[in-house]
Amino acid sequence: MNTVVETVKELVRPFAGKPTELIQALHGVQSALGYLPRQAQEAVAAALGVPLSQVRGVVTFYHFFRTQPAGKHTIRVCLGTACHVRGGERVLQALQDELRVKPGQTTADGKYSLEVARCLGCCGLAPVMMIDEEVYGRLDPKKARRIVGETP
Ligand code: FES
Repeated sequence: MNTVVETVKELVRPFAGKPTELIQALHGVQSALGYLPRQAQEAVAAALGVPLSQVRGVVTFYHFFRTQPAGKHTIRVCLGTACHVRGGERVLQALQDELRVKPGQTTADGKYSLEVARCLGCCGLAPVMMIDEEVYGRLDPKKARRIVGETP
């Protein structure tokens, strides 16, 4: 048996046969593995007794689950209320188009992972994104693309 499946089985043992614990089980697995590969999703589905389609639906719906390993840099675009009102969605869309990924995915070259946040704690600078630990504010799509493009 491969190690991913073995690891997942061990991690989800407390949730075996408890479909209502699906999100908690997925959190635990992602914390351990860093992401949720298909094999892990299958093992979670089997252990909890839920259809794989349900697991995939949850993983896809919630932006904090990722299905690929993290890239060299993690970009977090804020879609909290202040950022949403000031154009955060347009910033996110511009980066999705530029990098050809959706939230939760990593670029083909492994350089960037794209994520969505619900408030980065600096609403006065909205709309905001973070690249790793650095905050960038008062963004528009053009400025966001430029900053990402200049990240080494
Ligand atoms: S809502 Fe975006 S930083 Fe608070």
